Amino acid sequence: MVSARKGWFIAIEGGEGSGKSSVHAELGATLRMRGRAIVLTREPGGTPLGEQIRSLVLAQTSVETEVTELLLFEAARAQLVATVIRPALARGEVVICDRFAASSVAYQGFGRGLGRDLVERANAIATGGLRPDLTLLLDLPAAAGLARRAGAGAVNHFDVETLAFHERVRAGYHDLANDAPDSWRVIDASRPIDDVVAECEAAVLSLID
Ligand code: TYD
Repeated sequence: MVSARKGWFIAIEGGEGSGKSSVHAELGATLRMRGRAIVLTREPGGTPLGEQIRSLVLAQTSVETEVTELLLFEAARAQLVATVIRPALARGEVVICDRFAASSVAYQGFGRGLGRDLVERANAIATGGLRPDLTLLLDLPAAAGLARRAGAGAVNHFDVETLAFHERVRAGYHDLANDAPDSWRVIDASRPIDDVVAECEAAVLSLID
């Protein structure tokens, strides 16, 4: 079921250590200051069920196949779209999501090798066809992102994947961005975070103002 849409849906995407969390928080603060009603959410997660799935899939002690992993992300996504994102858009709010369906194309489709077509079919089921109005891709070489993550001491199941895996993830994002230049913005995330945030804010404000 596709409900009426009035709000704006913005997704922030990128590899490990690309600065997504900072951009997410700063964008939220800026839009609130300007009096916008916003919803900040994330994938996997953003709902009680989604947060449980997040713990499962990031610890990943028992997720044995690529398809199992994909469907866990999709289950969390279906719940988030139905209970958080669509209702907020129907209220006319701005939804800013830290990762969305493109993450599954990049990580499961390209990283794990399931392929773009299969993942896009699964995404269509989970999202009911909902797509972000704007996707901000925080882009930097995989090695640079991983070095930042190592410096921050953060480790999840995907951080310990090979450099080649993370290079495939980046290639997957570029594939998607190249195919939809009107709704994607590729941002050089190797620069200082303040510059990255400023470019993201400008892109969002020019869309919604
Ligand atoms: P998180 O700690 O939030 O990483 P990051 O700060 O880089 O966003 O963990 C999310 C991880 O899950 C991240 O490594 C990417 C991965 N992921 C997928 O593989 N597929 C997906 O569909 C999503 C949403 C995330």
